[in-house]
Amino acid sequence: MLESNCTKINFFSGEDIPLEMHKVRMVQRLNLSEVERRLAVIEEAGSNTFLLPNREVFLDMLTDSGVNAMSEAQYAAMMMADDSYAGSETYYRLAATLTDIFGTKYFLPAHQGRACENILANAFVTEGSTAIMNYHFTTTKAHITRLGGRVIEALGEQALNTVSTDPFKGNFDMAKLRRSVEETGPGNISFVRIEAGTNLIGGQPISLDSMRQVSAFCKEKKIMLVLDASLLADNLYFIKTREADCRARELADIVREIGSLMDIIYFSARKLGCARGGGILTSSDEYFKKMRTLVTLYEGFLTYGGMSVREMEAINVGLRETLDFNVINQTPLFVEALGKALEAQGIPVVTPFGGLGCHVDATRFVDHIPQEQYPAGALAAAIYIAGGIRGMERGTLSEQRQPDGSETLAQMELVRLAIPKRVFTYSQIKFVADRLAWLYQNRRMIGGLEFEDEPETLRFFLGKLRPVGDWQKALAKKFRKDMPSGL
Ligand SMILES: Cc1ncc(COP(=O)(O)O)c(C=O)c1O
Repeated sequence: MLESNCTKINFFSGEDIPLEMHKVRMVQRLNLSEVERRLAVIEEAGSNTFLLPNREVFLDMLTDSGVNAMSEAQYAAMMMADDSYAGSETYYRLAATLTDIFGTKYFLPAHQGRACENILANAFVTEGSTAIMNYHFTTTKAHITRLGGRVIEALGEQALNTVSTDPFKGNFDMAKLRRSVEETGPGNISFVRIEAGTNLIGGQPISLDSMRQVSAFCKEKKIMLVLDASLLADNLYFIKTREADCRARELADIVREIGSLMDIIYFSARKLGCARGGGILTSSDEYFKKMRTLVTLYEGFLTYGGMSVREMEAINVGLRETLDFNVINQTPLFVEALGKALEAQGIPVVTPFGGLGCHVDATRFVDHIPQEQYPAGALAAAIYIAGGIRGMERGTLSEQRQPDGSETLAQMELVRLAIPKRVFTYSQIKFVADRLAWLYQNRRMIGGLEFEDEPETLRFFLGKLRPVGDWQKALAKKFRKDMPSGL
């Protein structure tokens, strides 16, 4: 297994910038259109960055999901896949790798992360039951509430503080967890879920120590413990670099310990393993049996679960590469570089810098926009106008309305500028910082958004909005005035 040098490479000049530990041997051409076209395109997309055609996007920082760069070893492995409906050799190879890495006995394949969540929810969530977690993820919560379950969050006090020095803002508040279990009663709890690399609060990691404490508590109370390992790669980097007793440990050894603490692990392989797919792991015969029929019902036969065998081969190699420090350090180092460049311009970003992407704090960036007018959504649209950069709203738009139709105001209003693994170069990161600096100087021009077409569930994916007033047109005009001949 690969395990490379874990020391940071220093520049003689003293500059603190990330260094790419790979070379680029396949490229995709990009286009940056005129600001007038960007304005027309975002209007057509209902100010929703999910609805932008990719040909109109210069830097796609929407997500890391399914868009990470793959290694040559992954592409090579895809050529050697065993395409059979049942009992494919590819399945056995991937299952053996997962057992090797996590120490778990069973592997249930599924086509992506939310498919695993669908299976978990159908197997274990009942009407009126409760799932406790450090923080929810959009699709996780939607699957639980759809079946009549509810979600309780047990994050620590620093977690929602966008300006913090807490190295593990994804950690559980054990007192809150205990209290929630006491009040709910262990018998009414479907599971406790740990999300590694807590997505919606800015890719913030959870420490191995916090995982240990939650695991011991769940064992004592006989509550099932589930790990969402979709963002484990970045989280692993932070465990290794920020947790004192892990610095000298091998990544493989840390992951083995994590595996031993959980009853069930699931992951989106669009993220973990840098391909496209997903899977559920467990060592429990009982849980395996409960979930396997759901895999055959919703996903496909037990040895492919809706995935292409070629993708399964790519996942197999990608998972092993996750144990290489020079692979998993790339996104966190680039997030840090972008974060520092933005901070230097006074732009509010979530600190400490996490994984997944750089998170701009819209609450402070556009503090004049009320939450009911979706400040983070408005800022994401403005960032596209400013530079053809596609980020993702992570705020009130990403929440679901209450049953009475009122808004659920998000605890944070963020725009995520995702940094898919090994995709962007350092000069592209500098371009992003430059365009955001221009936008920050013109931030008072940005206005709110209102819905034109609002889907009932997961409205942020497909909903269409319009600007309140004509601020988008005015912003594009100002850009043209400031940069008369530039793109
Ligand atoms: C933490 C977490 N869990 C689950 C998912 C869902 O995975 P997928 O997009 O593959 O359905 C995601 C996707 O972003 C995620 O970040």
